[in-house]
Amino acid sequence: MKAVAIDGPAGAGKSTIAKQAAERLGYIYVDTGALYRAIGLYVSQRGADPAGEEEVAPLLKDIRLELVLTEEGQRVLLNGEDVSRRIRTPEAALNASRVAALPAVRAFLLELQRGIAERSPVIMDGRDIGTVVLPEAEVKIFLTAAPEERARRRLLEHQQRGEQADYQTLLEEIKARDHADSTRAIAPLRQAEDAVLLDTTHLTPEEAIQAVLNLVKRGG
Ligand code: DC
Repeated sequence: MKAVAIDGPAGAGKSTIAKQAAERLGYIYVDTGALYRAIGLYVSQRGADPAGEEEVAPLLKDIRLELVLTEEGQRVLLNGEDVSRRIRTPEAALNASRVAALPAVRAFLLELQRGIAERSPVIMDGRDIGTVVLPEAEVKIFLTAAPEERARRRLLEHQQRGEQADYQTLLEEIKARDHADSTRAIAPLRQAEDAVLLDTTHLTPEEAIQAVLNLVKRGG
């Protein structure tokens, strides 16, 4: 299986780096966080509690998720509708974090994620790719950065989209999400034993991409 697993906390640069590395390697990039976000969006649209397993589990059968590559980059389709922008709000992030703690949701996405990796060479990013989803991945990377640096990067992203955002609020959100993601009972965020730690706090995106490509070249 040609697969690169990149895990790590929010804002460590996973998506930017994984996307670029995938393009250069000719692999498919899979943003698994986007899948959790789309489920969170669907659940909240249906008026269900994103933290309630009994409410969420029966809705999963009505969800069809697709990742499609267009001229504008990768888009997330939820039941055929492009929700790529709507899943990027702070509220969507919070709902994603809640549904991500539910066993039914994780089982649902496990199948989808493994199916994609069976069909094509992938760079998949998330929280549990090296530990749970693709334990056989050839290369596993745990990508991280200091919380302050991650908040600064998120702030820049918001500003570039012309959105209002506050550094302190973003920093608190990041810390809260790190905590929720690493302490949940099922598939918590943690470094796989055979993953390479890549700290991007003092790296430019290009330096981090090169580090990933070098790891792939030497096979992990
Ligand atoms: O990477 P992100 O911010 O788009 O992820 C959204 C949420 O989904 C985040 O709270 C963690 C969760 N997630 C997860 O539990 N497992 C993954 N493989 C990917 C994301």
